[in-house]
Amino acid sequence: MAYSEKVIDHYENPRNVGAFEGDDASIGTGMVGAPACGDVMRLQLKVGKNGLIEDARFKTYGCGSAIASSSLVTEWVKGKTLDEASKIKNTVIAEELALPPVKIHCSILAEDAIKAAIADYKKKNAQ
Ligand code: FES
Ligand code: FES
Repeated sequence: MAYSEKVIDHYENPRNVGAFEGDDASIGTGMVGAPACGDVMRLQLKVGKNGLIEDARFKTYGCGSAIASSSLVTEWVKGKTLDEASKIKNTVIAEELALPPVKIHCSILAEDAIKAAIADYKKKNAQ
């Protein structure tokens, strides 16, 4: 199967790989798995005092499309509010990376990881 150039670029030069040091209330962590293939994605969002996402990190144990999807969304979420980030749709990720139908679930993993990270952040900061 041929990967698109954007997938190959993000796969070979993934952006924002890793994890934040420490774990204070400004960081939300989402960990999700894809039932279709068993791949796992861990996404972290760092939220500034102004409520905007300052930075993001990811670690993905999975296929090239999953790595490219997570790399892409770490770029997309920066500067967004949590509300805006929660609206990033897997279909837009799949379209940007020109994912073939069998790889759509890889982009769903990225959408789910953003939502999980936001939920974790909100849980930490509730009260
Ligand atoms: Fe094997 Fe995704 S199915 S890496
Ligand atoms: Fe399962 Fe890509 S995340 S094949």
